[in-house]
Amino acid sequence: MEDNSAVKAGGSESPDRGIRTYVLRTGRMTEGQKRAVDELGPRFCIPFNPERPLDFPEIFGNERPVICEIGFGMGLATWRIARERPDYNYLGIEVHTPGVGKLLAAIEEHGLSNIRILHHDAVEALERVVAPASLSGFHIFYPDPWPKKRHHKRRLMRPGIVELLTSRLKPGGYLYFVTDIEDYADATLELLARTAGLRNRYEAYAPRQTWRPETKFESRASNAGRSSFELWFERT
Ligand SMILES: C[S@@+](CC[C@H](N)C(=O)[O-])C[C@H]1O[C@@H](n2cnc3c(N)ncnc32)[C@H](O)[C@@H]1O
Repeated sequence: MEDNSAVKAGGSESPDRGIRTYVLRTGRMTEGQKRAVDELGPRFCIPFNPERPLDFPEIFGNERPVICEIGFGMGLATWRIARERPDYNYLGIEVHTPGVGKLLAAIEEHGLSNIRILHHDAVEALERVVAPASLSGFHIFYPDPWPKKRHHKRRLMRPGIVELLTSRLKPGGYLYFVTDIEDYADATLELLARTAGLRNRYEAYAPRQTWRPETKFESRASNAGRSSFELWFERT
């Protein structure tokens, strides 16, 4: 794999990473979400500061392995998994402010101490403030499908970004990806299979992990008759 491993001081290393994977929605914030951002944000949101790469033991106050979830949406899977699997710390990265507020409120409601939030573009955050080989896993659930062919270049799972994710995993760390969009699943299976440094734990698609709760996107998909495709790859 090419040397894209250092935490960079600025700019995108790979031209393939330059196109944003999201369009910022202007979703309205509820009063509860606003309060959560104001009052809980200072405790649970980590500022994005390229001068200060993330020091996980300092941030979480322990040495537990850290799982990064990209695009947690409203954070339902994030807090439920953090509660089910307390032996891990969770770094949730999301650009959508109402979702950040919603997850902050859930952290408080359920008394969770093992979640922190980066309210920022995950690609830039991983490039600039997350050290190589510092994460034990990625959770990527129902990422924006960008269904039109001319928009496929916006998909999160594309070569330059997958190389970046791989470089941030420790050996043995995992990448757990779920989508209900069949052509995205097939393309991602093929992409991950040919990425240096990754190995499929299963023959092709993975079984559902029992600890992954159903989110809005999944129930919407199953109501529309679409099933989900799961992938579980590990860093060699
Ligand atoms: C289709 S939603 C899925 C949300 C959630 N994972 C679920 O299963 O309900 C995708 C989310 O990814 C977020 N997202 C997309 N690209 C992102 C990026 N580069 N950094 C952070 N969040 C991103 C979007 O804002 C959106 O909330």
